[in-house]
Amino acid sequence: MPAFTATAPGKIILFGEHAVVYGQPAIALPVNQVEARATVTPNLQGVTGEVVIQAPEIGLQTVLDDLGADDPLGAAVRGVMGALQVPRIPACTLKVTASIPFASGMGSGAAVSVAIIRALAGFLGQPLDDGTVSALAFEVEKIHHGTPSGIDNSVVTYRLPIFFQKGQPLETFSIGKAFTLVIGDTGVRSPTRETVAAVRARWQATPADYEKLFAAIGSITRTARDAIRGGYPTRLGPLMDENHAVLQMMGVSSAELDRLVSGAKSAGAWGAKLSGGGCGGNMVAICDPQRAEEVQAALEKAGAVRTILTRIESRPDEDYTGGQSSHFGLQL
Ligand code: PMV
Repeated sequence: MPAFTATAPGKIILFGEHAVVYGQPAIALPVNQVEARATVTPNLQGVTGEVVIQAPEIGLQTVLDDLGADDPLGAAVRGVMGALQVPRIPACTLKVTASIPFASGMGSGAAVSVAIIRALAGFLGQPLDDGTVSALAFEVEKIHHGTPSGIDNSVVTYRLPIFFQKGQPLETFSIGKAFTLVIGDTGVRSPTRETVAAVRARWQATPADYEKLFAAIGSITRTARDAIRGGYPTRLGPLMDENHAVLQMMGVSSAELDRLVSGAKSAGAWGAKLSGGGCGGNMVAICDPQRAEEVQAALEKAGAVRTILTRIESRPDEDYTGGQSSHFGLQL
């Protein structure tokens, strides 16, 4: 059995985080500048069933049997074994690396899961379809997030812009005109599980108030999709500002995030908002491509530990072919 490598991209949520957990739509985009990578290599001297797991960035060097049921890497491996009905894997080493910052709203957990699932299935000679990959990664997301919406595993699996609404068929959409995003990392690690739980507690305390905030975000997200499809990226700026204001009201922004958002705006960004779970992690700004370097510099000055520039290419309607189906049912 030859070695097998798979990668999965990072992601950014452009609109709709948190509200998406409560049934509102959200827009997520793949970020191909960063990725997770998993390689499975056969251990010719090893004993069948012994899977060595190495994740040097988190100092992990272990064997599968020593990972508990709540370990995300172990859960991804066991998910594949269950789906393929392979009770014992030929002796191998699974090495996982990622250039996606951890716990910062760029989907590192989902990307690591998707890379592991694809690499292991490929190594076993039984590649899985995207729907199964996404569904297996969703199970691992439950360990990371508690009550995930499913958006991270979906965008990372399909590598497409997605309009995601829980319980609805997964939709991708056309992009009328390319646009430029600058992502800024506060460097503050903030586990999504905690911010999702905090929002849940506040929603339970004052449900009517929070449902209004969720609905406001839903309506911003729908308007944003129309602007993207129509080829009016400048219109996304004010919508991102509005979305950020609602997230501030929900208590998931932070002084660091607000500083980066203001820094981007003062350097000429059309709009900016936190992205992902919040209370740390990343923010995203949209700007004229000519101004992108100034926005990056402003973010660094405002405290960003790193910035990523990404261009979202236009996708004409004719691109809608291929019909991959997910367990959510992808609408192409
Ligand atoms: O994984 P993150 O931090 O990008 O956040 C995911 C977005 C949330 O809406 C906060 C949670 C979810 O499961 O959708």
